[in-house]
Amino acid sequence: MYTDDACQSTLLTLPFLESLDNPPEFAYYESVMSPDAATPTPLPPECETALLERFLKAEAMALWTIRSARLQDVPPNVYAFLRKHEEDEEQHLAQFETMIGRQPRERERLPSVPRQWPALAVQLYGYESLGLEFATLLVALRPDLASIREDELVHVGFFEQEIHRILGSETAAAEQARLSALAWWRKLPRTIDRYLEAEVLDPFRPLLASRILSTIGRRFITAGLLKDR
Ligand SMILES: [Fe+2]
Ligand SMILES: [Fe+2]
Repeated sequence: MYTDDACQSTLLTLPFLESLDNPPEFAYYESVMSPDAATPTPLPPECETALLERFLKAEAMALWTIRSARLQDVPPNVYAFLRKHEEDEEQHLAQFETMIGRQPRERERLPSVPRQWPALAVQLYGYESLGLEFATLLVALRPDLASIREDELVHVGFFEQEIHRILGSETAAAEQARLSALAWWRKLPRTIDRYLEAEVLDPFRPLLASRILSTIGRRFITAGLLKDR
């Protein structure tokens, strides 16, 4: 699940301390500690079309973001992975196009992504984690799409490994990754709300959003990107 927010790369460079004093966003951070957030919320069958629509947009954005990431200066093993990653997302997008019967809106240029690898790695890790959460929701309604979730697990696993590598490396890179993670995390509630924007999803949005936030928050804490509080 990738965002179409043009401000993304700018926000990733916002001063870190500014973000610590915002009570509403801080409340979301606190929700990471919610103990009952592990189970995905089941959705009724009438939500399927809305979810597929969201995926059409998100998979297109994933593909464009990876194409943009491939133009950046990334480590050689990452470059090799991104080629396979791009193929996977192309296939996912083609599946959703076939199911929905139309193509996503074209865009004139690729989305901007952070130039520095630690920040870019956090962004890719974050959005792939979000994609995995949505794929888990989707597969509950459409078990025939389980292979998409399997791919998302591989994508998340790869970037998680890269995050571990970055956090275990020189201090500056690790610090940049942590600051980027906090900035990305602060935007996540809005991103999730945007991706759950559909009337049929209205009754489920608060619980879904809180569970997705909690799961990703725990993932980031376990990876060492966010601090547990
Ligand atoms: Fe995908
Ligand atoms: Fe993916």
